Amino acid sequence: MDGIMNDISQTSNLAGHNVEGGFDVERIRRDFPILSRQVHGKPLVYFDSGASAQKPRAVIDAMTEVLQDQYTNVHRGAHYLSQTLTDRYEGVRGKIARFINAPSEDQVVITRNTTEAINLVAATYGRSFLGAGDGIVISAMEHHANIVPWQLLRDEKGIDLKVAPIDDRGVLEMEAYEALLDGNTKLVAMTHCSNVLGTHVPAKEIIRLAHERGIPVLLDGSQSVVHGVIDVQDLDVDFFVFTGHKLYGPNAVGVLYGKAELLAKMPPYQGGGDMIETVTYEKTTYKDPPHRFESGTPAIVEVIGMGAAIDYVTAIGMDKIAAHERALLAYATERLTAQPDIRLFGTAPEKAAILSFIQEGIHPFDTAAALDRAGVAVRVGQHCAEPLMDRLGVDGTLRASLAMYNTTAEIDVMIEALERARKLFT
Ligand code: ALA
Repeated sequence: MDGIMNDISQTSNLAGHNVEGGFDVERIRRDFPILSRQVHGKPLVYFDSGASAQKPRAVIDAMTEVLQDQYTNVHRGAHYLSQTLTDRYEGVRGKIARFINAPSEDQVVITRNTTEAINLVAATYGRSFLGAGDGIVISAMEHHANIVPWQLLRDEKGIDLKVAPIDDRGVLEMEAYEALLDGNTKLVAMTHCSNVLGTHVPAKEIIRLAHERGIPVLLDGSQSVVHGVIDVQDLDVDFFVFTGHKLYGPNAVGVLYGKAELLAKMPPYQGGGDMIETVTYEKTTYKDPPHRFESGTPAIVEVIGMGAAIDYVTAIGMDKIAAHERALLAYATERLTAQPDIRLFGTAPEKAAILSFIQEGIHPFDTAAALDRAGVAVRVGQHCAEPLMDRLGVDGTLRASLAMYNTTAEIDVMIEALERARKLFT
């Protein structure tokens, strides 16, 4: 597969030794040019993939190729370039559909990001089918992108926004969740995997309980799609949303998957070119899904890049990536919990390789600065999840979000930097 065999960057001296089951992390690292750079004179240790992942050469090359040799607009021209690029662009829709096992590529709407995909559902499905007194259930560990669109709808329509609680490990309290599925609840919108705690929610059970009561479910897959295999048919989920830039693709591309019967009855989102059949001053008719929800010139180059990212991770195998990350998570958890001053948030039995923590007695921003000096990039603050910070009783945390290209040696670098910070600040 293009990219995995690329020999374009130097081997990092932080490469690990995990060559089990055909997963060669050193070889994968060589596909990511940025991983061979230094920061503050130290090899970059990139632990901020939850915010945005780095890009393999295959993605960079695909985008460059379009810009150099193939670029034009799509869906609009009768000329050679437009027809060939439109085919390539639409081919990505099929790749996305196969990647999440959607029954049809017509159920894949291309958006700018997860946030836009959720806003699209709120503005179309929500505005059309929810009204005063209807309830929407979210969880206590949502990203702002899965809170604020529903608040806007609540303020417009008088909807009741209900929050399913989590326990101190960051596990969803299922009895409380089920109790919220009362006669008023008309939609569940839930993270599939918390961007702060790493918790994987029991999605099939959440969906089964909702469907027993005729309630559709939207899953925010921004983090889950990166850390494991997604099968929307097996989940039986009604809407599934995610973004390309966390999946080793470019930013400005997101996805809304929806069940065909739901998409079919939803009105347009934004009006403009490309989403219409005919326009007169008196009346406009609209295309069928997915094009009904895609107006204006899309992020053409980025969509092609996303296709390359999907090819890249598919060739490696999402199951192999997940196994590597599970090993990293176990190692990082063991090393962090052995530290006398580290408080870890999110210890759910089912979780992704996302570690939120604070160093007792040291402000998280000071710890983050110490890590940065050691070349270690982590996110610090509220992680776009302020209500969750309130639930945890902290102003913010540090977050190390690990990816397929990370190694145990890099975790050791972070631990050594934390030990130095402890000596410096306490
Ligand atoms: N949602 C991204 C994060 O969790 C930006 O960091």
